[in-house]
Amino acid sequence: MTNLAQVQARINDLCNMLAQHNRQYHQLDTPLISDAEYDALLQELRTLETDFPQFVHPHSPTQTVGFAAAKKFAPSRHSVPMMSLTNALTQEQVSEFNARVKKMCQLDQQNISYVGEPKIDGIAINLLYENKRLVKATTRGDGIVGENVTDNVKTIRSIPHTITGSCPRLFEVRGEIYMTKKEFIRLNQLAEQRGERLFINPRNAAAGSLRMLDPNVTAQRQLAVHMYRLVPVESSDIWHTHSDSMVALCNWGFPCVDEWEKVDGIAQCYAYYKRIMQQRDELPYEIDGVVIKVDSVEWQNKLGYTDHSPRWAIAWKFPATPCETILKSIDFQVSRNGILTPVARLQPVFIDGATVSNATLHNIDFIKRLGLRLDDRVLVVRSGGVIPKIERVVQHSDEGKDITIPTTCPICHSPLVHVENDCHYRCIGGMTCLAQRQNTLVHFVSRHGMNIRSLGAKTIQLLDQAQLMTSVADIYHLHHKREKLLNLPGLGEKKVDEIFRAIEASRSQPLPQVIYALGIPGVGRKLAHDIAQYFPRLELLSHADIPTLHAANSDKIGLGPITAQHIYDFFHAEANRDTIDALCAGLNTPPMPMTKHDSDSFFAGKKVVISGKFAGFPRTELQEKLKQLGAQVTSAVSVRTDFLICGEGSGKKLADARRLRVQVIDENELQSFLGA
Ligand code: IVH
Repeated sequence: MTNLAQVQARINDLCNMLAQHNRQYHQLDTPLISDAEYDALLQELRTLETDFPQFVHPHSPTQTVGFAAAKKFAPSRHSVPMMSLTNALTQEQVSEFNARVKKMCQLDQQNISYVGEPKIDGIAINLLYENKRLVKATTRGDGIVGENVTDNVKTIRSIPHTITGSCPRLFEVRGEIYMTKKEFIRLNQLAEQRGERLFINPRNAAAGSLRMLDPNVTAQRQLAVHMYRLVPVESSDIWHTHSDSMVALCNWGFPCVDEWEKVDGIAQCYAYYKRIMQQRDELPYEIDGVVIKVDSVEWQNKLGYTDHSPRWAIAWKFPATPCETILKSIDFQVSRNGILTPVARLQPVFIDGATVSNATLHNIDFIKRLGLRLDDRVLVVRSGGVIPKIERVVQHSDEGKDITIPTTCPICHSPLVHVENDCHYRCIGGMTCLAQRQNTLVHFVSRHGMNIRSLGAKTIQLLDQAQLMTSVADIYHLHHKREKLLNLPGLGEKKVDEIFRAIEASRSQPLPQVIYALGIPGVGRKLAHDIAQYFPRLELLSHADIPTLHAANSDKIGLGPITAQHIYDFFHAEANRDTIDALCAGLNTPPMPMTKHDSDSFFAGKKVVISGKFAGFPRTELQEKLKQLGAQVTSAVSVRTDFLICGEGSGKKLADARRLRVQVIDENELQSFLGA
């Protein structure tokens, strides 16, 4: 094109055409041209705009796609929970999985038919289709409730908005949204040019891009998707095998990985795993293992689910790749219990899809055992795929400096004591140590503790510095200091009111959460829960002597002599007096409904699933009650379920229970059982 006027006219035409096609695609769900034709037009426009930037229109489809930005994502409940997968790291663990499957399906002599799929490292997504149209896209969230990201997902061009061909009236498709390695590099190059922060890895970039409040931004980051599971919502068992459902998904126009394969028996699973591992670097997207799934839907139903994952599938993760880098320095962090943990600061290195610049060193003895010196070349692995760890020194540096082990607390300079048999050093500063104080508060307000979420670590630090909240005891007096809070930077009326509301709500946290929030050494969530069965009020626990604490362990709840001593010491330490008094006075903890498990109860030892709404009980209360009666409450109905407790609006679980002949108990019957 020689003439500038012609160029401008063509740019205008392209903008208009693309805007029309966007409308057809995103809003009317009736695309008039193929994706390839659309991409060709967009590419032509991009090229012209690069060569003639003076004609870039602010409303060009290269700049916007035409959606209004959302304020925040609405919560959205999954019709069937989105579970996670059990991980296997060795061939042995996969053999054990295969043996379990054979045993539960009573197929000792037969090779099990599986489907192998690459395990894509992205973000799980759940797409709901009704009457052939995409009506909702939800992130995994906590597995029960996710975020409604429909507008953003609609900008991923490979996701069909409308299905052609016959399909169920209502169904869900689950898969993984990801960013290709190429797009990740492109985005990071762009970010670098603009002096913006780089993404750590493609997964992180995909997650960030998907959750942009403005779908126009999502559209500019080229996200891709592969679907890996069809979930019928109204009627189950339409497909007899997972492989048939994958074929159906492909026929309906869903993008599925090319690499999925039917594999028979454990030997073929292993061959598949090795094949995919060899292809890993050539694949356009990041994978971190393979997923092995039982093909038969009937056996999948027989196998059912644990609390977190299906028993019919396993994620066989690739081993962590060791990488070499340089140890630059070591920081010593102080936990809420005063324990010093050394953290290695490394020259950043890219390992298994993430940039690693810190690694744990466990304790000071570990540094000595490795013989570490600064500037040493070290071998780092991401153990279990997550926490980076220094394995060993590869080469000492010529000018390497010895690591100075602190003799006093690096935060408050109090003396350190060596914790015998524990290889740890502990700061004796207690609550005079800023790190211990703040970390204690962070633990106290955490989700599984008092759940005061609006008091984040930054706000806690701010309030500590201003001397407005230096201990747990101060939390429940904070409302007297409203004016002072309002004078602090970043704390407006809205935020302060939010904090006060969250503090008020926390006064009625159940006792197990209160006990856990105290942060007594050795008392985790499970033990806190069990302790609350024996000491149904905080005062009872706070006055318990050592023999009483030992007696509580008669059911072997894991309250050993050391933890019993920790509990006793905690409630008798002068430094904790104010905290305990403030809690006993300030909390409105609901009474524990019952002490100890009732081993004679009707529900003792039974596997129970709860579904639907109940007029007489909030769901969590019902769950707690059943647990106290000795029931094991699980989330999905399987052949091993003893009872489905069925409230109003129980759909799929009720259908599953009927199909699997699981006994159903409704709310009226439940009342009589609980009353009895
Ligand atoms: S099946 C009920 N298949 O891995 C279990 N998951 O670590 C459904 N993932 O949350 C999951 N590729 O987000 C399945 N081919 C694949 C997968 C896959 C990646 C993700 C998925 C899941 C996570 C579990």
